[in-house]
Amino acid sequence: GEHPGEPNLADPGLVSDPFGGYGAIREHGAVTRGRYFDGTPVWLVTRFDDVLTVLNDRRFANDPLSVPGQETDTTAAYAAEALGLPEQFVPYLLGNLLRKDPPDHTRLRRLVSRAFTVRRVSELRPRVELIAEDLLDRLPDHAEDGVVDLIEHFAYPLPITVICELVGIPEQDRPRWREWGAALVSLRPEPFADAIRAIVEHVHALVLERRAAPTGDLLSGLVRARDEDDRLTDTELVTMVLTLVLAGHETTAHLIGNGVEALLAHPDQRAALQADPGLLPDAVHELMRRCGPVHLTRLRYATEDVELAGTLVRRGDVVQPVLVAANSDPRRYSAPDRLDLSRERGGHGEGHLGFGHGAHYCLGAALARQEGEVAFGSLLRRYPDLSPAVPPEKLARVPVPGSWRLTSLPVRL
Ligand code: HEM
Repeated sequence: GEHPGEPNLADPGLVSDPFGGYGAIREHGAVTRGRYFDGTPVWLVTRFDDVLTVLNDRRFANDPLSVPGQETDTTAAYAAEALGLPEQFVPYLLGNLLRKDPPDHTRLRRLVSRAFTVRRVSELRPRVELIAEDLLDRLPDHAEDGVVDLIEHFAYPLPITVICELVGIPEQDRPRWREWGAALVSLRPEPFADAIRAIVEHVHALVLERRAAPTGDLLSGLVRARDEDDRLTDTELVTMVLTLVLAGHETTAHLIGNGVEALLAHPDQRAALQADPGLLPDAVHELMRRCGPVHLTRLRYATEDVELAGTLVRRGDVVQPVLVAANSDPRRYSAPDRLDLSRERGGHGEGHLGFGHGAHYCLGAALARQEGEVAFGSLLRRYPDLSPAVPPEKLARVPVPGSWRLTSLPVRL
């Protein structure tokens, strides 16, 4: 086969065609040298079984400082230098769950995990349905010449409303979170630093409010854990809120956007789903596999020498699991490029790695799946004749490595 060179995650070819690009890398070899977009050398792991192995293996850490002998966090230096983030804000960026290992990871995750169990999430379902119905009621008001942007008026507002209600972000502040989220995803220095600064200030103010007058929201619970039990620091508290709100809306919005796009492009699958809403849970699994919004996990760091699929990964080496390649690995799936809502999942739960796996498995997976089910189900029920307003080749995606996001999705109701 053709040697893919030493791909950089920011290569325009990989960003615009991750399925083809990472697919070629996967077929070239199990473990391939590449570069993270800041230039750091990484091992790209692309096959389903190998990605699963890395995500399950505690020898691959999420905090670079967990590597024995490692004293500097190059990602912290990158944040400060390339993104122009003032020193005092760096901890808010680096202190999130995805950059922690035990015991901190275990302690922090335990503080919030109860709010996101399948049972607690199912109690939210009626509220999620109501929010969706309300947005769907108002869709025609946003139509111009019969065309509505579903990203703007449905895919975004649904998850941001849900996660903000759950955490306790007041309604009037939610549009700012959406802008901050976009600024962070863009990785452009000035907007990035401004957004972090604004978020930290905003969350600090909310913490003071809840401290004075607690409510039943998640934020009040975190303030109590801080003040009464000393189970997290002020910085960790702010970081947790920031992580939950940002991780909880951007991603889910684009599962909804990508999923609706895929259903519109596959009339037979869409018809099957419209005929049998019982297919919704399976449909969400398959849409996550085929067009999930997160293509790359956070980096992992080898804490000792590890042999991985025949390659010696040395202590301190950086590993990048590639979810999009694993989710279309022909070793794992027959006809992997086909969207098949009733695909056999082979007794493996979700049957894909779009929410990651292991200790850092997506905290919000049950919530995201439920929002997906409600979104696809209610949209197709309310607007059974929904159709694309532009041909597929006219749809644009946000050019950011590792994420798969439509800039807009114009439809006719
Ligand atoms: C972790 C994807 C929705 C919160 C992850 C990971 C993935 C992921 C792949 C693991 C990354 C890694 O191991 O490096 C997604 C997708 C979503 C989604 C595709 C929507 C379709 C949500 C929601 C929340 C959330 C709604 C709200 C709470 C988190 C958190 C983590 C995480 C806090 C870190 C967990 C840890 O490190 O222990 N997500 N996510 N996600 N997700 Fe999600």
